[in-house]
Amino acid sequence: MDKKLSRASFAGRFFRDRQGNPWKTRDYQRKSLNSRQKRKVLRCGRDVGKTSEIEIVALHTAYYNDNKELLIAAPRENHLLPLMERIVDRAQQIYPEKQVKVKRSPSYRLTFPNGTVLWGRIAGHRGVNFQGMHADFVWVDEAQEFSNAAWSELLPAIKGKGSLWIYGVPNGVRNQFYNFTQMDLFQQFHWPATLNPDFSEERRQEMAALYGGENSPEYLHFILGEHGRPRLGVFDFDLYQTSKKDFANYLLFKITANDLPLHHLEDLLPFPRLSTPVYLGADLGYASDPTEIVGWHIDKGMMNPAFRIHLENVPYNLQIRIFEYLRQQINILGIGIDLGGNGLGVMHQLIEKDPEWERLISGINFGGWVTVSYSSDRPCREPAKKFMTTLLERRLQSGAINMPASDREREDQYINHTFQVSEQGRIVYSKGNDHIIDADRCAALCFNQNNLESDLDKDPGIIIQGC
Ligand SMILES: Nc1ncnc2c1ncn2[C@@H]1O[C@H](COP(=O)(O)OP(=O)(O)O)[C@@H](O)[C@H]1O
Ligand SMILES: [Mg+2]
Repeated sequence: MDKKLSRASFAGRFFRDRQGNPWKTRDYQRKSLNSRQKRKVLRCGRDVGKTSEIEIVALHTAYYNDNKELLIAAPRENHLLPLMERIVDRAQQIYPEKQVKVKRSPSYRLTFPNGTVLWGRIAGHRGVNFQGMHADFVWVDEAQEFSNAAWSELLPAIKGKGSLWIYGVPNGVRNQFYNFTQMDLFQQFHWPATLNPDFSEERRQEMAALYGGENSPEYLHFILGEHGRPRLGVFDFDLYQTSKKDFANYLLFKITANDLPLHHLEDLLPFPRLSTPVYLGADLGYASDPTEIVGWHIDKGMMNPAFRIHLENVPYNLQIRIFEYLRQQINILGIGIDLGGNGLGVMHQLIEKDPEWERLISGINFGGWVTVSYSSDRPCREPAKKFMTTLLERRLQSGAINMPASDREREDQYINHTFQVSEQGRIVYSKGNDHIIDADRCAALCFNQNNLESDLDKDPGIIIQGC
């Protein structure tokens, strides 16, 4: 074996950057990369090189240590899979002729010629995947998403003298990742995204606009890597995992403005005729915000996913045509439309073209109030967005909703959706990456309102039908 290379030199020799040039460790990355501490935590913004450090250090450790057990842990498959595949690629470049044996199932296992084994495992439901492991080196990516149950399984899986390095982006939740970032026992690193040489003034402005200003919770978390004010997860991580099922007929379409001149709608959305009736929910974006249209089958009160249509920069008139097209193809029971963005305009246009739409569409004012039940025939009201969220939460709790396992973006949004309580005691939900959830909120509310047990009409001032 060659004289031991420093980790930075190892990266320079075996890694390439996106341009194909030998990897150069950035100044802010150097101290962490060369750390010899057994306990370390990186609290960072996005895209600063956390996962890259794991790749480099894991392969460096495997290269220079015989007969060790190494473990890379991540909360979900979405995180682990790309990381492990990049490591497999690099390992095959470093060790020619298939000297590294790779197994991908039931979990990642790379066996190196020196007897060292690198495992890649997801925390999974309650962290059971870590049971029975005894690792000398452990790296945890996207640690902010680890549940307490997963940490309690992971910590005993580290050998007495083993090391634990933790990488995460704050999400405001005061969970175990937050605790680690407050402990003197752990060597602490903090890399805001602004350290990345690609982070320009233009990017700063774009991110501030996207997240609603530089003081917004999302800018504080994702860019500055700060915890910000305490927040709580809206949806329970474990419940979402339990609700995931494989739906072979689940349809997912993505259309961008570039697709449009080339295709007819029928080609873009080869939508089969669906005989089972469907509730639709829609968050109709404009300019930079995407549009999400979701469909849910209702089966004995249970919500099962039918489809999701994601549109980017798709003009208003085409959004209208898509609704008309969907009505030809499926039996629609109701459509909840968020009246923000393009919602109000699209709803008006549809009703103007055909008054029958008025029966189908419920326009929902997210900032308004909604009738949730009747007491002595008097309506009881709750803030609309909070109530819609409660509907989804209750369904997850009672198992009355199934989530499509193949829809990773939906899962990302649910897991990362948080709220804080304002000084006035109001619940404020995180913004930005939540358009699918908003569409789901609309579908769930529309279903709920159509089934309110009362002789009274829906409250016309709140759920605006046809305005
Ligand atoms: N020192 C570096 N030189 C070149 N590219 C880098 C360097 N560090 C990170 N990158 C690139 O930046 C991008 C984000 O890195 P990644 O490790 O995925 O960040 P994070 O995990 O913090 O989000 C990747 O494309 C990665 O290759
Ligand atoms: Mg990463």
